[in-house]
Amino acid sequence: MFDTNKKIGILGGGQLGKMLCLAAANWDFKTYILDASPDYPAGAVCTGFTAGDFRHFDDVLNFGRDMDLITIEIEHVNTDALRALEQMGKTIHPSPRALDIIKDKGLQKKFYREHGIPTPAFELFETEKDLVNAVRQGGWKLPLVQKTRTAGYDGRGVAVLRTAEDLHAKLLSGPCLAEEMAPIQTELAVIAARNESDEVVVFTPVEMDVHPDANLVELLLCPARVSPLVLAEAEALAERVIRAFDICGLLAVEMFLTEDGRLLVNEVAPRPHNSGHHTIESAQTSQFQQHLRAICNLPLGAVTQKMPAVMVNLLGEPGYKGPVRYAGAEDCLALEGVCLHVYGKAMTAPFRKMGHVTITAGTLEETLKKAEFVKKTLKVIT
Ligand SMILES: Nc1ncnc2c1ncn2[C@@H]1O[C@H](COP(=O)(O)OP(=O)(O)OP(=O)(O)O)[C@@H](O)[C@H]1O
Ligand SMILES: [Mg+2]
Repeated sequence: MFDTNKKIGILGGGQLGKMLCLAAANWDFKTYILDASPDYPAGAVCTGFTAGDFRHFDDVLNFGRDMDLITIEIEHVNTDALRALEQMGKTIHPSPRALDIIKDKGLQKKFYREHGIPTPAFELFETEKDLVNAVRQGGWKLPLVQKTRTAGYDGRGVAVLRTAEDLHAKLLSGPCLAEEMAPIQTELAVIAARNESDEVVVFTPVEMDVHPDANLVELLLCPARVSPLVLAEAEALAERVIRAFDICGLLAVEMFLTEDGRLLVNEVAPRPHNSGHHTIESAQTSQFQQHLRAICNLPLGAVTQKMPAVMVNLLGEPGYKGPVRYAGAEDCLALEGVCLHVYGKAMTAPFRKMGHVTITAGTLEETLKKAEFVKKTLKVIT
């Protein structure tokens, strides 16, 4: 319902929360953030801020009591408290049930297997030692990808194990899974949205170019440079996945297009996603407004891509740590079609996500040329 007085609680006050609050403000929707500090990006733009820990039962419960609707900008939240709030009649999107599956990469992968959703072959292990034993006994061959089951993000819970030496040097500890190395041709991200009326729309698939050192997405292109058939297949797969999870809100589906033309689901995120930032400028509805539409059961907005777009993540320059400065910003702002988003984190650190730049132009080639200039020119330093 379109109700400007409804209190929307958001767990997490990072940049995704900030951009969600900004979209809500356009409709005079009231947003309340729960996170550690009002100095975080969303603190400056929300209606109200509560200092607390979204992983703590009491903090989430007490925060949620005053809300009509609760959503997230990060999936590692206390779902027991969300379930209790659900019992109290609060609307929670995405559902705690879906969050519990998605938070644990092991359960997530099992979910794909059970629902016939294509994903790289995998096996769960109680400890990293069990994984090493499986390799020694020939059950798994190198190279393989090891992932920790919980709390991994921005590539931190992922290790590519290529050699016997990597099995010591790169091994991550704790409950984990082994995944076959997918022969990746292109990495895609496809954002689907669904509302309570079971309406589903899917944004144009995005191509993600991953930074080799940071294991972080550095450059993002929309539409992805794949065939129209693959675009259509990727959209259909994203729709299938959001329906399988029964999620209201956004679901970003990260996929691999393999060298032999298969689409495999890597992982999902049930919230606005880095790969959807470009929609603010380049699509008819931004992912943030779409998330609000979806969780408030409003008609979903058109997802038509107005023009090609490239998004560059502004990562903290290696070698710099401290109060942030954006060198070269003026030179970039002088260019047509270059939109700068600064998240408002006071301190930079190597590879920290500090902002992003969306570049739109008539053709993808043109946007890429400007993106190269932005990457060379704009530096996040101290
Ligand atoms: N099975 C695989 N085969 C080949 N490469 C993989 C595989 N799984 C992951 N990768 C590579 O590692 C990257 C990070 O993996 P994944 O998305 O699962 O981790 P993450 O920590 O959740 O990352 P992020 O938060 O950046 O999305 C992928 O984008 C891909 O480049
Ligand atoms: Mg990922």
